Amino acid sequence: MDAKEIIAQLSLVEKAALLSGKNEWETRDIPRLNIQSISFSDGPHGLRRQEGAGDHLGLNASLPATCFPTAATVANSWDEKLGEEIGEALGEEALAQNVDVLLGPGLNMKRSPLCGRNFEYFSEDPILAGKMAASYVRGIQSKHVYSCPKHFAVNSREYRRMAMNAVVDERTLREIYLTAFEIAIKEGGAKTIMSAYNEVNGKYANENEHLLVDILRNEWGFDGLVVTDWGASNDHVAGVKCQSNVEMPNPGLDSAREIIKAATEGEGRITEEEIDRAILPIIEAAIYFKENDHNKGFDKEAHHAIAKKAAVNSAVLLKNDEDILPLKAGTKVCLRGPFVDKPRYQGSGSSQVNSTKVETIAEEIKKYDLVIEDNPEAADVVLFFFGLDEIAESEGADRMSIDVPEYQIKELENLTVFNKHIVGVMSAGSSVKMPWLDNLQALLHGYLTGQAGASALLDIITGKEIPTGKLSESYPFAYTDCSIVNYADTEKRNLQYREGPFIGYRYYDTADVAVQFPFGYGLSYTTFAYSNLTVTDSGVKFKIANTGSRDGSEIAQLYVGKKDTGLIRPKKELKGFKKVWINAGESAEVEIPFDDKTFRYFSTVSNKWEIEAGEYQIYVGANVADIKLSGEISKEGTIAELPYNIDDLPSYKSGKVRNVHYEEFEKLYARPLPEEKVGPLDINDALCQMKDAKSGLCRLVYKILKNNLDKSYEKGIPDLNTMFIYNMPFRAMSKMTAGAVSRDMAESIVTIANGHFFRGLGGVIGGFFKNRRANKKYEAHLNHVE
Ligand code: BGC
Repeated sequence: MDAKEIIAQLSLVEKAALLSGKNEWETRDIPRLNIQSISFSDGPHGLRRQEGAGDHLGLNASLPATCFPTAATVANSWDEKLGEEIGEALGEEALAQNVDVLLGPGLNMKRSPLCGRNFEYFSEDPILAGKMAASYVRGIQSKHVYSCPKHFAVNSREYRRMAMNAVVDERTLREIYLTAFEIAIKEGGAKTIMSAYNEVNGKYANENEHLLVDILRNEWGFDGLVVTDWGASNDHVAGVKCQSNVEMPNPGLDSAREIIKAATEGEGRITEEEIDRAILPIIEAAIYFKENDHNKGFDKEAHHAIAKKAAVNSAVLLKNDEDILPLKAGTKVCLRGPFVDKPRYQGSGSSQVNSTKVETIAEEIKKYDLVIEDNPEAADVVLFFFGLDEIAESEGADRMSIDVPEYQIKELENLTVFNKHIVGVMSAGSSVKMPWLDNLQALLHGYLTGQAGASALLDIITGKEIPTGKLSESYPFAYTDCSIVNYADTEKRNLQYREGPFIGYRYYDTADVAVQFPFGYGLSYTTFAYSNLTVTDSGVKFKIANTGSRDGSEIAQLYVGKKDTGLIRPKKELKGFKKVWINAGESAEVEIPFDDKTFRYFSTVSNKWEIEAGEYQIYVGANVADIKLSGEISKEGTIAELPYNIDDLPSYKSGKVRNVHYEEFEKLYARPLPEEKVGPLDINDALCQMKDAKSGLCRLVYKILKNNLDKSYEKGIPDLNTMFIYNMPFRAMSKMTAGAVSRDMAESIVTIANGHFFRGLGGVIGGFFKNRRANKKYEAHLNHVE
């Protein structure tokens, strides 16, 4: 039977049940028609497959898997082949662990350096993020496993991520926040996508017709599965109508009853055709996975080697005064810093992998031709292993600052008293402030290296390997230098993206704000010279010579700008890149083609991608601030009418967007900005909003949560469940409790929070029995025992 024939055999009760999860990680099965569950698992840089009872954020240990470097790390390789290789390995491990859909990669834009999940995301640039994500998707899916890019879309902050409305103008939405997803789907062929927790312009991502229907299905031609983030469904019926296919994880049968009610009562809010349309990709996927052979296993050592290769190719050399690196054989080194014995190599949250093994510097260094010296004063070089603590990089919470912890900087400063030759080796999945940089003679940034990081970094330190990575994000001097600094930390539900397209280098470069390290920056042990640029209609060609004494690779970057423009535009935007290996003394001809994204902009006049007529500046650079070659090309336009008079938007015209006025943003937004809701709590408010609840009991619950959170900060170890609960809305109680709490019961809990204790309690108790009866009846129906 094909998928459509199977659907014809299903009852409405079965169909409604199929649209939400059966447990933490699986969809429902229908044994009588031989439809199996589809199984999901995190994560983006290694499997987190829980054996036995799943519990979302992983109190139950998961099966051992290879921990590859995180996305933020691998993005620094700018190497799509490498992304594909990691993807293939992830796919193999998924197959071996009985997983059909791998929940990754994560490709939200790094709008703020404070986002706690930046380590899981590729870049501040949509082209780089999209190309890397597409490469992972191709690799994963080559193994007959689906990849699920996430979180669609505009989920660039953790704080109140489930109770937040991202307010972003249409052009910025398309060009900055959606383009990476577009690439992952069109070029990577992703068969699954995860809808985000937040609202986008007033509609939850999972029931946002504009995102899910107009753009994803109709424009991009996506015919796969849309899966909600865990607990992200709000109005399930609205989601299904927008062709969101599976509500995860396990809302019990309340969601299924909502579908039946909507299909059968009153005017019929949803039709059976709409239900069938939403079920089709689920059945197709179940059929696709049926033949998967889960007995193949995977080669742990081979995957460890891939993790190492990825870490080697992603590390970025940021400073190397007097060529202190690579260290010569026999150098006397003193090892210092918190990460010598205990590496920081991944972040916390749903992406956390139970690694097959983890290398440490303390052990690995014994394999190198270096002399270990305990006294820093007697050493030739001090190797200082430092970076961000675990609590700074976790799902569910944003960072409080972009500082490296004080205690580490103190240790570094103390070391400078004994030795001036200090090489910093940093672990951090996001940008940090570096007022201490002068204390280091060299800085090698490994990001979060995955399990094989120690030997990867030591290979570079000793010169066995050459550093080839370049930064996939900018490093500002201070958080207050960021374009978003006045808009990002709000307690409000409406999070205005007032900076428009000017995030990351798009801002620093355009507004002439000096940075510590620009986007695309990275040193090598060799040097390169660029020459001979030709610009044709199909792309650019140029020559790169390796002018140093070592073989190595260079990442050349293509940027495009348009000085004479009637549109808001960053000075330069990345449009392509190429990593090329060139032997010492040799040179390579490099070509970077133009594509459909090179000159396009999204017009809110025609509601389509258009090209503005005129001259474009073409830049080829070693990073965004180091342009080596430039040229021009003239393009015919596709539409003359512009969406605004740019002189009405002076901040955006100059790119100086740190203090955009409400009125100016409203002009760009081109519709009235949403008002903040006032009044009593509602089902979509976050639990942390109980702080000011009328009910003393709820204020107490808030205090307990806050207390637990503070304690976890004191300890430096993220308390993932508290972080999740703190930020989740009341609604999620009915979405994540396996049917124990119905939506009516969650509403009654809100009634309690608003000070109507007895009315609310009555509702909770009544709702409990009603829900239990209804669940039993539904189960009986599903099992055909009625
Ligand atoms: C995260 C997702 C993850 C899911 C399942 C959510 O909290 O946002 O990225 O895939 O949990 O663990």
